[in-house]
Amino acid sequence: PVRCLGSEERTLAMIKPDGVSGNYSDDIKRIILEANFNIVTETLAQLDKETASAFYHEHSSRSFFPHLVTYMTSGPVLVMVLEKPNAVSDWRGLIGPTDAQKAKISHPHSIRALCGKDSQSNCVHGSDSTSSAEREIKFFFKDVVPGDIASQHDEL
Ligand code: TYD
Ligand code: MG
Repeated sequence: PVRCLGSEERTLAMIKPDGVSGNYSDDIKRIILEANFNIVTETLAQLDKETASAFYHEHSSRSFFPHLVTYMTSGPVLVMVLEKPNAVSDWRGLIGPTDAQKAKISHPHSIRALCGKDSQSNCVHGSDSTSSAEREIKFFFKDVVPGDIASQHDEL
């Protein structure tokens, strides 16, 4: 029997407020599915200051932090758990560099080049490592059990 579950990996993806309000959600989800990610679960959420600050706590001492929190709370975000082999680095590759201005030059086909504006309003988030992915998935989806959905495919 063919069992490829061992190579599956999950990452946290988020369409930030400018992406949702700019109506990029459908285009981004199409890119996600065409890149062979499985969208395990998703939720539309309005972050409050406390939640946005906790999510980005690693940046709390940075000068841009207050602006980042204001931006992240400026409208609803679409949070998704994506799954495929190598999901963390493949999703980071698809979204492109942090600074959308630079992305438009160096990675013109990236998602941040498509819908981001600058180093703050960059349209999408992606976990930067498997350990970040684990923390961030738990942060938003406390009830997503690793393998619970993948195991259904395993029965096919
Ligand atoms: P970071 O983790 O460095 O980037 P990435 O999202 O690519 O992992 O930064 C987190 C977010 O903080 C970034 O997406 C947007 C915001 N940010 C700024 O507003 N200004 C900045 O100069 C940087 C580096 C980040
Ligand atoms: Mg980061």
